[in-house]
Amino acid sequence: MRNTILSFLITATVLSGVLVYFLPHIGNIILLSISGLLTLIAIYDSLQTKHSLLRAFPLLARLRWLFEEERDKIQQYFIEDNLNGTPINREKRSVVYQRAKLSKDTIPFGTQHNVYAKGYEFVKHSLFPKNHHYTTGERIIFGSDKCSQKYDGSIINISAMSFGSLSSNAIMALNQGAKMGNFAHNTGEGGISPYHLQGGDLIFQVGTGYFGAGKSVDSKRVFDAEIFKKNAIRPEVKMIEIKFSQGAKPGHGGILPAKKNTPEIAEIRSVEAGTQVDSPPGHSAFSNFDEMINFIQKVRDLSEGKPVGIKFCVGNNEEIEQMIKAFADANNYPDFISVDGGEGGTGAAPLEFTNYIGSPLVEGLVFVNKLLKQYNLRHQIKIIASGKAVDAFDVVKYLALGADAIGMARSFMLSLGCIQARECNLDTCPVGVATQDEDLVEALVVEQKNIRVKNYHNKTITAVKEMVSAIGLDSIDDIQPNQVFRRRKDEEIASLKEIYY
Ligand SMILES: Cc1cc2nc3c(=O)[nH]c(=O)nc-3n(C[C@H](O)[C@H](O)[C@H](O)COP(=O)(O)O)c2cc1C
Ligand code: SF4
Repeated sequence: MRNTILSFLITATVLSGVLVYFLPHIGNIILLSISGLLTLIAIYDSLQTKHSLLRAFPLLARLRWLFEEERDKIQQYFIEDNLNGTPINREKRSVVYQRAKLSKDTIPFGTQHNVYAKGYEFVKHSLFPKNHHYTTGERIIFGSDKCSQKYDGSIINISAMSFGSLSSNAIMALNQGAKMGNFAHNTGEGGISPYHLQGGDLIFQVGTGYFGAGKSVDSKRVFDAEIFKKNAIRPEVKMIEIKFSQGAKPGHGGILPAKKNTPEIAEIRSVEAGTQVDSPPGHSAFSNFDEMINFIQKVRDLSEGKPVGIKFCVGNNEEIEQMIKAFADANNYPDFISVDGGEGGTGAAPLEFTNYIGSPLVEGLVFVNKLLKQYNLRHQIKIIASGKAVDAFDVVKYLALGADAIGMARSFMLSLGCIQARECNLDTCPVGVATQDEDLVEALVVEQKNIRVKNYHNKTITAVKEMVSAIGLDSIDDIQPNQVFRRRKDEEIASLKEIYY
């Protein structure tokens, strides 16, 4: 094959050279240049020693690489149908785009879901549905009896995504959208940047790298009360979230790829620019439950009484139970717990961590909810659930299973124009959402996208109200696990209450 390709190209080059010699017009010169160039590439391919496929099939093997590189896009544009795209299928992506743009969000002709398939889920409506215009419950109060600055927040908020994993324009659009729609924007573990300070409510996340809340001492990241306090008492900061783990990479710690670690981001995080920044897997501020409880209280005090939460993906169940018990025994606890599902998203994570570590959201959420009830803490601690919540059914289902509020990360990325190209870790995001490349960042026009962020939030809240009123409820608060159903086998449907409670 190698010789055939090379002989063919060399012959083509020689023939086009002869043509140019006798008929030197532009068409023949272009032909000679192209065949000459291809011949040179093919000779290089056949002589190089790194890639055997390229040595055997000079030039042709490059097509394979091209298709490999574009595989996701080919899959998305030409192969996937409405329901089989991952991680978020086309039907769900479309509803975000439609709600964000306020375009038509109805679908024609009937469902594409197989309602007889195992795992199909639905709610049952009432003969006496309510008018959704009067449905209440879209806001809740965060803050236990331990906190003095309670927060009146939306039941849908933007889950943690840092400046670094997302672009400056994406962060600005999210924050301005949050301001317009009166909901909260979680900073992610990368600290508070000027782009977060657009007037929207912030949940200030403190990760294991303590960016914006600590410093490096002997190449170890440590919490610093003064640095933390300066950020925590900002009026925009309404709540603090201490991140223990996230579903996409539990037990790993954040990863900021070197390419995305610009001098500006390095300055905000006080790290070296252009290097990969790996946050440690665990906190240096505490190493047992007593220290953890003290740290939560310290953070609460330093923030002058704002609600303080913890975020984790459920791992070792016994440990989680010991932690909740320790909260009850100490009569001191966080104001909210964010339960992240193993199906959660990330800017960058190792494959094994993304695919095989951490409990999926449903099991994690139910477990935490049951424990809080068992230890009589449920009335003090709110639960925020995150894990692929996109449409109103996802929200209703997680609320029914015990969540008080929902965190959404990737849905809000979609509302910014994310096309699920899945290049967030490469700095090549084609729509300027998850990149630090200035040209690409400029492609995202903040003044257009901020409105879409608000629209998506508000339309989803309306859709939740419509579903709840169809069930016959007056308030979103009233959703219960016995109102959501799942087909378990061919002839058996059970409520989530029967399955999980
Ligand atoms: C680009 C990106 C960056 C993220 N960065 C953080 C982070 O800094 N801290 C964190 O706790 N979670 C982070 N997450 C996880 C989300 O906050 C969320 O918990 C998870 O993606 C589940 O929500 P989703 O399914 O709605 O995306 C990130 C997710 C994405 C997609
Ligand atoms: S478009 Fe692709 S690279 Fe950009 S945010 Fe979406 S998934 Fe990530």
